[in-house]
Amino acid sequence: MRALLVSKWTKVAVFLLCLIPFGDLVWRILNSELGANPVEFVQHATGDWTLRFLVFTLCITPFRKLFKLPDLIRFRRMLGLFAFFYVGLHFLTYLGPDQSFDLSGMWKDVAKRPFMTVGFTAFVLLIPLAITSTTGWIRRLGGKRWQALHRSIYFAAVFGVIHYYWLVKSDVRKPLFYGALVGILLLWRLLDWFAKRRSAAPARMAAPHVSVNG
Ligand code: HEM
Repeated sequence: MRALLVSKWTKVAVFLLCLIPFGDLVWRILNSELGANPVEFVQHATGDWTLRFLVFTLCITPFRKLFKLPDLIRFRRMLGLFAFFYVGLHFLTYLGPDQSFDLSGMWKDVAKRPFMTVGFTAFVLLIPLAITSTTGWIRRLGGKRWQALHRSIYFAAVFGVIHYYWLVKSDVRKPLFYGALVGILLLWRLLDWFAKRRSAAPARMAAPHVSVNG
């Protein structure tokens, strides 16, 4: 399994897999297969894929630990950047075909409709994560600060779920399903954090106490 995860070809294969939803959209656009409301179709597909990629990204850490597959880390940045790629398309579909690039109209809409406000907030939260996803930025910020910043992906995922929940008119099963997934992943992370703190506490107690008075 390890050989498969560290192979550069696996990375290429995962990259190509991540492009399939985009390829499908391009194919449908070229063949006029977007249904009666093409803008809505693209908006929904890109919104769905953003949420899926956020969940895939959040799954990496628990899966690494639960299945003892540390090399899964090799895919986290790629999956996170694909979440950003799809939300970028989602946003551009809204700004372009939907709002005709009218920025003031967009601001009014974002301020007026709560589901737009939270969706936009989620998007804004993801921008610094995409920018600082490089190794150079990890070095510049330092591991601890970088990790703290990148924890905001959980907020982006929660806001993404609320955005989805608020926009659906009747059948809330899909947003609730994503909400449950994000909730489980967040809970796992919190429990893991508490467990780490607990195991670190005795080590701290055992360390020699250094007093300022000598
Ligand atoms: C992380 C950020 C975001 C996520 C996860 C997300 C996710 C989604 C999802 C899942 C849908 C519904 C798809 C479906 O019905 O199958 C959707 C719809 C939509 N989103 Fe987002 N979105 C995000 C950000 C944004 C942003 C930044 C905007 C625009 C400023 C936006 C505007 C819309 C619009 C206009 C719709 C369609 C609403 C309707 O059909 O009435 N979203 N989004």
